Amino acid sequence: MVEKVAKLLREKKTVAFTGAGASLESGIPTFRGKGGLWEKYDPQIYASVPGILFTFLKSPDKISQFFVDFYEVLLKAEPNSTHYALAELERRGSLLGVITQNIDNLHQLAGSKVVSELHGNAYKFRCRVCNREETRDKKEVAEFLEEVKKLHTRKDLIRKLLSFIGRCECGRRLAPSVVFFGQPLPEEELVKAYQLIDKAELLLIIGTSGVVYPAVNLPFQAKERGCQILEINPELTPLSSIADIKISQSANIFFSQLLEYLG
Ligand code: APR
Repeated sequence: MVEKVAKLLREKKTVAFTGAGASLESGIPTFRGKGGLWEKYDPQIYASVPGILFTFLKSPDKISQFFVDFYEVLLKAEPNSTHYALAELERRGSLLGVITQNIDNLHQLAGSKVVSELHGNAYKFRCRVCNREETRDKKEVAEFLEEVKKLHTRKDLIRKLLSFIGRCECGRRLAPSVVFFGQPLPEEELVKAYQLIDKAELLLIIGTSGVVYPAVNLPFQAKERGCQILEINPELTPLSSIADIKISQSANIFFSQLLEYLG
């Protein structure tokens, strides 16, 4: 199968579409399925702004614990073979870019340059008015988490959070670039994603359950345009029905074999 995929990569303009399964081997749990984040934390509360705000007012510790847990996993995560292979394919001119639902920044850390982050990025903070974006590095985030762990009142937690997120040059407060349920996807990321999908002759769908819209519209639209679809996922998903090739394997194992084959 590796040979077949390597041949396709040589012949077709290829784009990758990734989900949480691509980062599982980096130590970041998926959202759904056994051991997923939403098994431990109710997404109705922790993945929606109203849910977070309402819970924060009632029990601020629950929300700060969630974000400390979530970011501590992110901070420890390093790219795996999937991220490195996609970056190498882009470097060789065999991949146009990556469209990701992940917010962990691992594609960029592995060296991918063309990345459309449909659900934002956990390290970026944006001004909702002038759209200017700032990045907080892992050291700043780690220091912030250590301070948050010592705080328990709403007032102290809010003050610490606002001072960490900071203000834009225009004076307005920045906001996390992460997209919560019910929020629109970032315009410029969508534009980037559609530009990639429009050029794609082969779409590699890697590690996504294919259940979250509007992100999942993209693979279906690629299929409608006649793009060949290859899915890499140990499980069956709604996207398996449109896959021309289905690789029921862990992405990191497949891509470490592909990296070895490519030499
Ligand atoms: N290799 C490939 N796929 C894998 C691997 C692996 N090693 N391990 C798990 N998977 C697959 C699972 O079978 C599952 O289909 O990864 C998928 C992960 O699905 P989800 O946890 O639903 O993650 P994702 O599809 O990225 O979720 C989309 O939902 O909660 C929101 O915003 C969040 O971006 C996220 C969106």
